[in-house]
Amino acid sequence: MSTGFTGKVAVITGAGSGIGRALAVNLAGRGARLALSDVDRDGLEATAVRCEARGADVREDLLDVTEREAVLAYAAEVKAHFGTVHQLYSNAGIAYYGEVWREAFKDIERVLDVNFWGVVNATKAFLPHLIESGDGHVVNVSSLFGLITLPAQSSYSASKFAVRGFTESLRQEMLVARHPVRVSCVHPGGIKTSVARNAMVADGLDPDSVARIFDRRMALHSPEMAAETIVEGVRRQRARILIGGEAKLFDLLNRVAPTGSQRFWAWYSRFLAVAPRKGTA
Ligand SMILES: NC(=O)c1ccc[n+]([C@@H]2O[C@H](COP(=O)([O-])OP(=O)(O)OC[C@H]3O[C@@H](n4cnc5c(N)ncnc54)[C@H](O)[C@@H]3O)[C@@H](O)[C@H]2O)c1
Repeated sequence: MSTGFTGKVAVITGAGSGIGRALAVNLAGRGARLALSDVDRDGLEATAVRCEARGADVREDLLDVTEREAVLAYAAEVKAHFGTVHQLYSNAGIAYYGEVWREAFKDIERVLDVNFWGVVNATKAFLPHLIESGDGHVVNVSSLFGLITLPAQSSYSASKFAVRGFTESLRQEMLVARHPVRVSCVHPGGIKTSVARNAMVADGLDPDSVARIFDRRMALHSPEMAAETIVEGVRRQRARILIGGEAKLFDLLNRVAPTGSQRFWAWYSRFLAVAPRKGTA
């Protein structure tokens, strides 16, 4: 199996913004052929224009990763269009902020639907094509919160821990079956994207406050740096791709002191507390 990108067909979900867009532009510069999708038509178009300016062969589709039948049909269309599929980057995702006692069941389900089931739908839809290519790679985007937890992140963490478990087991299956598919799980730290501005928050909490705290205190790295780290990790066939020094440090802390670190984050989260919406308790 090769580790190059030239001529490879790469599928990226959530390509209309942030890490997905930066990944598309990075892979375009490396000569990959791209199947880009998102629910955001304008964002997707803007990404495609930038990739085409780099000379890439680009296919763009409006696709909601939670719609299983549409994802299955999309995989067949991408295969028919390019003749093969080598790499799947399951990147589409949404953030959520809210304590368990505030969260509505429907919000928890929505976060799991997009972040976990979206990854499952895309992985199952593309896996046969990746195996058939003889040179496949599944790249599923989890999070630092797929390694550690913070208060008010139960749904998001549940979805990202689930992505990690699903992805690590898939990797083992590919090894056992000797299928020609490598598998990587990506754990970004804080990346400066629209993720917090696009986030869902529990009723009664102020969404602007979530975005401000994320932008000021957590978003440390550019999407371009995140994309370069992911692509380098893919090239080096890394099973785990951690993005940012804080992701590596907090992962280490969690492994050295799994319960003590929970108390530390509970204490630290007081500095990240989100204000209630005006007029609510
Ligand atoms: N930004 C960070 O700090 C950070 C940290 C850890 C993990 N991540 C993960 O990285 C991934 C990319 O996030 P980002 O920071 O670039 O955010 P972003 O909001 O800038 O981009 C996410 C993209 O996903 C798309 N999307 C949302 N729901 C979708 C759906 N149902 N179907 C298809 N597309 C959908 C959005 O339209 C958007 O274009 C997400 O999975 C996120 O959870 C981000």
